[in-house]
Amino acid sequence: MADKPDIRVLFDEDTIAQRVQEVAEEIAADKPHNLLVVAILKGSFMFAADLARALHKSNIAPEMEFLHLSSYGKGTVSSGEVKVLRDIESNVEGRDVILVDDILESGRTLLFAQNMIASRGAKSVRVAALLDKPKNRIAEIKSDYIGFDCPDKFVVGYGMDMGHAWRQLPFIGYVPQEGDE
Ligand code: IMP
Ligand code: MG
Repeated sequence: MADKPDIRVLFDEDTIAQRVQEVAEEIAADKPHNLLVVAILKGSFMFAADLARALHKSNIAPEMEFLHLSSYGKGTVSSGEVKVLRDIESNVEGRDVILVDDILESGRTLLFAQNMIASRGAKSVRVAALLDKPKNRIAEIKSDYIGFDCPDKFVVGYGMDMGHAWRQLPFIGYVPQEGDE
């Protein structure tokens, strides 16, 4: 097992649970029709699972799909290229679709996914990002639903990885870099 780096808590479990329920209520208030929630793998798996349960509590019955895209390689720097590693199976025609992702950073991944799903005839393609990290935004895209504004730090946990590790952490943490306290 890898040595554990110094991981500090940014958002704890209770804070996340409360915010995820609020996001579900925001989605419910928009009264989605024939909702398909598409979790973008891998980073969104924990958020998507909690969001699905929160939607159920908000009386919304979404279908769930999984779109595996690659953006980052093993390191912490984006390659800039997006590839489909596994496509969804459902027909999206005429449906309200919400793409769920862990972090909206450059926006390349979500813009790619949004264009792909829209081109298949979805009625709407909205975005729910757990974290919004606007500093390095390149693509013209905004998240319709945002869990938290994310400081410009490298975050891990709650589905998000550093070199494939630490996705299992139940909280959102960050690894302090030079200049952080
Ligand atoms: P982008 O918006 O296309 O740049 O891609 C964002 C993706 O990069 C996210 O879905 C994450 O998989 C990854 N990413 C960006 N920032 C971080 C971070 O701080 N920790 C872990 N993964 C990150
Ligand atoms: Mg990702």
